[in-house]
Amino acid sequence: MSLPSPIAIDGPSASGKSTVARELARRFGYVVIDTGMTYRAFTAVALDRGVAAEDTAACASLAATIDLSLEDEQVFVDGVDLTERLREPAVEAAVSAYSAIPTVRDAMVRVQREAGDVPLCVAVGRDMGTEVFPDAPLKFFLNATQEARASRRSKQAGTWGQEQDATEAGRDIKRRDRIDTTRAASPLRPARDAIVIDTTDLTEQELLDQVIARVSAWVA
Ligand code: DC
Repeated sequence: MSLPSPIAIDGPSASGKSTVARELARRFGYVVIDTGMTYRAFTAVALDRGVAAEDTAACASLAATIDLSLEDEQVFVDGVDLTERLREPAVEAAVSAYSAIPTVRDAMVRVQREAGDVPLCVAVGRDMGTEVFPDAPLKFFLNATQEARASRRSKQAGTWGQEQDATEAGRDIKRRDRIDTTRAASPLRPARDAIVIDTTDLTEQELLDQVIARVSAWVA
């Protein structure tokens, strides 16, 4: 049997999604679609153009007019590579608000489905299993306590050149979780058929072993 595709990986910030996706890419040749990049790129452009998240009509028309695409690990808007800007503090602070706007989501979902239209795809985000790829044959939902995720995020932030201590990271994660789980449009939640993994007390290797076992069992 061939490998499952797409594989949907959802979960809150710093729950281990990217680690899993990278390993599936390395081991089996999956293409990774990091859908948070589309919301981040949209946010960067909206901030540049002075379009506030409260102005949902202007956000809708911006979403309808820009040409946004995901290619490998890069994101382009109207031909300009915005990848370097995605972790900027201003983008980080505003992305949850822009990504709660239904018309923005509709436009980003189109981009995400197009990018995912490849033979072997791992799609990473918040609503991959529920909305974007509801028929995905294999779905994971990763979770971990806010404390564990804050500690991971503050370590990662250093490597992105955006120093953040665990307290700051914790505040940010709490705020982000609240917006992502309570928004009306595609809130963060596990799909009914998702395999839920709590990564709080797992080492990276233990998490990868669990996921690889599920993929291998699917193929067998
Ligand atoms: O995964 P990330 O941190 O790059 O996501 C950035 C923001 O985008 C986060 O606040 C949640 C939102 N997001 C979303 O609403 N749906 C997705 N499929 C991916 C990300």
